[in-house]
Amino acid sequence: MSRSAAFLSDVHGNLPALEAVLADIDARGIDEIYFLGDVLGKGPSVHEVLDLLRRRCRGAVYGNWDRLVLYSPEGERFGAPYYRERLTEAERAYLAALPETLELDFAGKRVLGYHGRFSIDRVVTPMFNNERENVEAAMYRFGPHDVTIMGDAHHPFLLTHQGRFLMNTGAVGNPCDRIPQASYLILHERGGAFSSEHVRVPYDLARAVSLALHAPDLPMLETYIRETITAVYSRSYKPKAPARSPWEDLPLPVYEAYASARGLGQALSSILAEQMRDLPAKSVCLLGVAGGNGLAFAATLPYAQILGVDVSEAYLAACRARFPQLGDRLSLLRLDLRDPGARLPHAELVLADLLLEYTGLAAFVRQIESCAPRAVSCVLLPGGDEPDARFAEALSPVEKQRQEVDPTALVRAMEGAGLALRRVTSYPAPGQRLLLRMDFARP
Ligand SMILES: [Fe+2]
Repeated sequence: MSRSAAFLSDVHGNLPALEAVLADIDARGIDEIYFLGDVLGKGPSVHEVLDLLRRRCRGAVYGNWDRLVLYSPEGERFGAPYYRERLTEAERAYLAALPETLELDFAGKRVLGYHGRFSIDRVVTPMFNNERENVEAAMYRFGPHDVTIMGDAHHPFLLTHQGRFLMNTGAVGNPCDRIPQASYLILHERGGAFSSEHVRVPYDLARAVSLALHAPDLPMLETYIRETITAVYSRSYKPKAPARSPWEDLPLPVYEAYASARGLGQALSSILAEQMRDLPAKSVCLLGVAGGNGLAFAATLPYAQILGVDVSEAYLAACRARFPQLGDRLSLLRLDLRDPGARLPHAELVLADLLLEYTGLAAFVRQIESCAPRAVSCVLLPGGDEPDARFAEALSPVEKQRQEVDPTALVRAMEGAGLALRRVTSYPAPGQRLLLRMDFARP
């Protein structure tokens, strides 16, 4: 008796990759094919991949992206509506009816297939999350099976645990293991012997790029193309944290003495109050809150939630001590906005005054995408503050970090995050400078 079954997952709309895998499967004479989720998202070929998978697979389960596209409001951030709008009624019904798991008997073994995503922290990958606890959680989530096969990690692997197997197919359309070739898994039964085989199939990367480039308005186009041709995941699981911020070494009394002596503290307080008055919201996030910039005024407004964010734990401790009256309405979060692993929680309004010059524009916009606010107001100090000998030494490390932010680049980057420029206001600042306030909102 001889039998082979192919397991595919994570096609992600990449038609050339799927066609190459199916051709490889056909050349091997395998007609038993199972699909383990993530048909959609990322790549452009929605109908073609759905059609091929529906025709060719004996069984299929849904993936996290398929659910995201169908249902999740969180998916807006990843461009889910693009794929949702393209689905026909029949395609939508097919996706919605996909089960979470599939089971089969193979070579005397009980085989379970499912996508694998049950918590982002527990996506088992050979490099990062294969601690025993995660492996066991993945293997026993649906009761014991001799062989558990998953997708989702976009990394092919095989692990054993107490005589059982945990396998990942790798990704057909979006491998993230630095091998830009489609990946899938075959189980074999030959004369009573059971074996498994991971297969890599080179395919036409240039065609995949061209299809994406010619798909009108494909969301996250650059990310998709970069991932496709490099097989490097854009958001690494364990991103490298940035070097310690010099703000953490600037004592709050020194910073406040400087801001007060220069008149910047007072100017900033009145601008913060204006921003909050002009842009009503249920929740507000104050980035670079320092020792409490803006909190006194925020306390007078009916915010349900006030979030103060700063890179310095010492500054946040001062906020906590100074604003006990805010009680549960105030959350304080220590976050280095430059850290690619950091995620700013949601707030309706984000205020970022004299901050972008220190975080950099790209890091700031990444956090705005994560936070998904309705409105953002930023204050820039073009040209920076003029030198003041009294504070030059203390401020030198943070000033070295400072980078001028070009207003045009800011407007373009915010548009990329779905926020349009609504209003520009300038205020006089000490030393012939001006403070430039720019308000953005979702159209
Ligand atoms: Fe996936």
